[in-house]
Amino acid sequence: MSSIPPKVRIVEVGPRDGLQNEKAIVPTPVKIELIDRLSATGLQTIEATSFVSPKWVPQMADATDVYTAIQKKPGVRYPVLVPNLQGYERAREVGVEEIAVFTAASEAFNRKNINASIAESLERFTPVIERAKADRVAVRGYVSTVLGCPYQGEVPPADVVRVARALHAMGCYEISLGDTIGIGTPAKARAMLAAVAVEVPMSALAIHFHDTRGQALANILACLELGVGVIDSAVSGVGGCPYARGASGNVSSEDVVYMLHGMGIETGIDLDRLIETGRWLSAQLTRDNGSKVGKAAA
Ligand code: HMG
Ligand code: MG
Repeated sequence: MSSIPPKVRIVEVGPRDGLQNEKAIVPTPVKIELIDRLSATGLQTIEATSFVSPKWVPQMADATDVYTAIQKKPGVRYPVLVPNLQGYERAREVGVEEIAVFTAASEAFNRKNINASIAESLERFTPVIERAKADRVAVRGYVSTVLGCPYQGEVPPADVVRVARALHAMGCYEISLGDTIGIGTPAKARAMLAAVAVEVPMSALAIHFHDTRGQALANILACLELGVGVIDSAVSGVGGCPYARGASGNVSSEDVVYMLHGMGIETGIDLDRLIETGRWLSAQLTRDNGSKVGKAAA
């Protein structure tokens, strides 16, 4: 039986997941303008940047400057990625109110991405989450490689369940399940989400699809039918993890919003403004617009 939610919250990850994989350093003012433009579209959550090691991801070295300069619109949340206590401290220095910690369902990917085993990463998050709780900072958790790993291959749903359950038990209010390399297909996506939802309430789950093989919208629809109500996406389909070989862009926010609105699902987003922002960003990055809806619109 279908239990498609009447409303969906989009978590716009373009400024972080979208830009982190760009080879040329995007000027800080462009990042700031991108977030300010996104804030005017009706989005409620915009992942702004990440306080990771600049040696690992030079593109995010300006996290402090970006976060400080963006106009924080009331009612909009601006989470940032934090890999460890050092990142948490940098984020708090500029008043961040929501963070996201990130690990994976595959040992091989996690080692490449954050230089830790899954168990070590969870240990690393423990003091971060404790500090966040004390500071009343909300914590989201990511699980990567939920439908396959570029290094290890198959990832059993039981491994995803274990990591998602651990993050939820540690205090993450929401767990985002990431198909990092866009390898999944709808039946697999549905089976993975159903398995996780046995252990973590659906209301605390989000889906995060990269569109490497053109499967993202189909996977999203399959997951919507199971009742998931939060979708991560990136304006103009920018994105990819620098430590996931072969990863390409996130599913485009414009395409997701177009599909949701077409199904009568509310998002609170002004699609025309989002399309305009995607076009503006594509011009700034001098790259083809990765949104089909953005290209088709008159
Ligand atoms: P490490 O090298 O093991 O850590 O990296 P370390 O503690 O030895 O630190 C190395 C150097 O970095 C030191 O500097 C630290 O001070 C510095 P040095 O002493 O050599 O001068 N450092 C930092 N500087 C600033 N902020 C920090 C920080 N931490 C250390 N927070 C570490 C471990 C986790 C730091 C590193 O691996 C890292 O930063 N990784 C991040 C990789 C990343 O950002 N990947 C992309 C995001 S995840 C993703 O895209 C997937 C997702 O979208 C979902 C999906 O699609 O699946 C979320
Ligand atoms: Mg991602």
